[in-house]
Parts: sequence; C-alpha cells; structure tokens
Amino acid sequence: MRDFREMKQRGERITALTAYDYPTARLLDESGIDVILVGDSVGMVVLGYRDTTDVTLNEMLHHTRAAARGVKQALLVADMPIHTYDTPGEAVETARKFVDAGAQAVKLEGGVSHVAQIEAITHAGIPFMGHIGMLPQSVREQGGYRIKGRTPSEVEALLADARTVEDAGAFSVVLEIVLADVAKQITNTIRIPTIGIGSGEHCDGQILVTHDLIGLFPWFTPKFVSPEARVAEEIRRAVRAFIERTRHNRGIS
Ligand code: KIV
Repeated sequence: MRDFREMKQRGERITALTAYDYPTARLLDESGIDVILVGDSVGMVVLGYRDTTDVTLNEMLHHTRAAARGVKQALLVADMPIHTYDTPGEAVETARKFVDAGAQAVKLEGGVSHVAQIEAITHAGIPFMGHIGMLPQSVREQGGYRIKGRTPSEVEALLADARTVEDAGAFSVVLEIVLADVAKQITNTIRIPTIGIGSGEHCDGQILVTHDLIGLFPWFTPKFVSPEARVAEEIRRAVRAFIERTRHNRGIS
C-alpha cells in the first residue's frame, strides 16, 4: 500500500479497472494494470440490475473469488455492497469475508458518514480504499448520477470526506463524478492518491468500468468515457457469422 503513496509523490499515475470474472481479471493483470476492482457495478453491467443497490454479498463474494483466480500482480480490491457495513462490527465481518475470498483490500462508499466503519476495517489490519463524491449506492436517494462539488457547501463536504478517509487509514480514495477543479483541490490537499472516475485529469490515477472502456455494454456509456474498443460489435459480428454458417451448413469442421 505504501507503493501507492510513493507513486503519488513521484507523480506516477495509478491505473485501475474493474473485473468480475477470471478471464477479464487475468487479461487486465497480464496487461499491467495497477489495481483491479471487483466493483458492485457488476450489478448493472453483468447482472442486469437497474443500479448497484440490488447487489448482494454472496454475488460479490462469488465474483471476487473468480477474479482472484486470475490475478498475480495487480492489487485486487473488492466493493462491499450496500447494507453490508451498516455498523463497524458488520463492516469488519464483511471485509474479512472478502479477504477470505481473495481480495487484498476493500472499498465502501462514504467519508464522514462512515468513519467508524472505515476505522474498524483499518484497525483490523485490512487495507481500505475510500470512495467519495457521487455514491452509486445512494443513487435512489440522490435522484440520479449528478456531479459533485458545484456549491461551496458541497466542496467543504468533499474536502471533509477526503481528509476523514485519509485520517481513518485509507491507502487511496476514489473520487466519482467530482468537478475537475474540486478533484484537483482534494488531490493537492491529501497525501493518499486520488483515483478519479469522471473527475478530470488532475487525480493521481484513473479508474473505469472495463465494460465502458471496451464497449461491452453498448446500451449506455457514461459521458466521460471514451471507449477504446467496440467489443459488443465484435460479439454481434461473430454471432451473426456463426448463425449464417450454421444455417447454410458452411465452414463447419
Ligand atoms: O462499482 C464500481 O465499479 C466502482 C467504480 C466505478 C469506482 O465503484
């Protein structure tokens, strides 16, 4: 975990992507990614839920075990799903389950609101990654995926969240959909690295949902993502080719 702080000091950008299964985790790992997150975004891009609030602990543990089998070099972080860390005791119990499933660190959503849970996890010796800004597990209460840091009170709250997760022992913190200038201010204020998603170029690292990066979930792509591939198109092309050759009994060996 010290490496990440040192990377920040050296100005080296941290790279992070999501994986929920063995082949994706192995491909990311072999490509040299620094961090692999078994995100609860699995609920939307793999399980077909409306948002992340339906994801269960058993689903997350199942995907964490699969991803862990594919990782040799990267740091494997797992997301603790909603209502699995409502108390500090429950947070530690859940975090331990993820460690048993093969995660090297855990992440939960919240700063000041969850300081007791974060401290309980880090005091138990489990490496912890923070997540502040737009919190997808609260999307229903917040009424959508809205950018954070637009008002002075939001900026103050974000800075307080960032300082809190740092002081509680986090080794890094995800900033989700935070105004770029505010993300820069947070990045310059704390010593642990900030990993941005939709939060501009000034963060110490960047994270994306791999399905968004490679165009594997074509029905919705967040505005801040520039896909590097169109995998869904390739799948459709291959499936159409298979249908064609089977129906016409051509090229079958
Ligand atoms: O669930 C997830 O994939 C995440 C990232 C988007 C940061 O939390």
